[in-house]
Amino acid sequence: MHKEISHDIDHVLFTEDEIAERCYEMAKEIEKDYIEKGSIPLVVGLLKGSVPFMSELIKYFSQPIEIDFMSVSSYEGTESLGQVKIDKDLDLFSKGKEVLIIEDIVDTGRTVSEVKKFLEDRGAREVKIAALLDKPDRRKVDIEADYTGFTIPNEFVVGYGLDYNQLYRNLPYIGVLKEEVYR
Ligand code: IMP
Repeated sequence: MHKEISHDIDHVLFTEDEIAERCYEMAKEIEKDYIEKGSIPLVVGLLKGSVPFMSELIKYFSQPIEIDFMSVSSYEGTESLGQVKIDKDLDLFSKGKEVLIIEDIVDTGRTVSEVKKFLEDRGAREVKIAALLDKPDRRKVDIEADYTGFTIPNEFVVGYGLDYNQLYRNLPYIGVLKEEVYR
């Protein structure tokens, strides 16, 4: 029998309700900016970590949006590798569009910075970033998300899309793993 994944959590940082509330606020802020510009954003989730955040966020948009996904790899274990490879490209055209990248967490900043550059080179009219979490202490690249859910200290977190060795993404909250799990 498998043990419940919640038993591996030392403490919860953000509950499901807190995340939903913050996503609502973010969606309203984001939506206002695009409504003012009169544009339909192409909302691009970075697989797989952004999936729960993106589905929560987009349900609060009342204006039209397009959605698509990209998969990039830059990360293994608990350290970012600093090299980004495109594993799955967009299905839709991004040329001339206002793109909003959806990312679970901006850590060193390499992933979003590379994806942003990639989409700009492809001719997107504008590329913005919405991240659920920000870990500014770990930044290696000079980049900030345009919209951030929560800023956290330099601590490894899981849940709500974030994984440790591909597990824990399905936890409905964000928490810190017990130390014994890493051993
Ligand atoms: P960056 O390129 O260093 O900004 O890394 C971004 C990616 O690293 C995220 O999309 C996550 O997949 C992963 N990552 C960074 N910090 C954490 C964490 O605390 N928990 C889980 N994944 C993390």
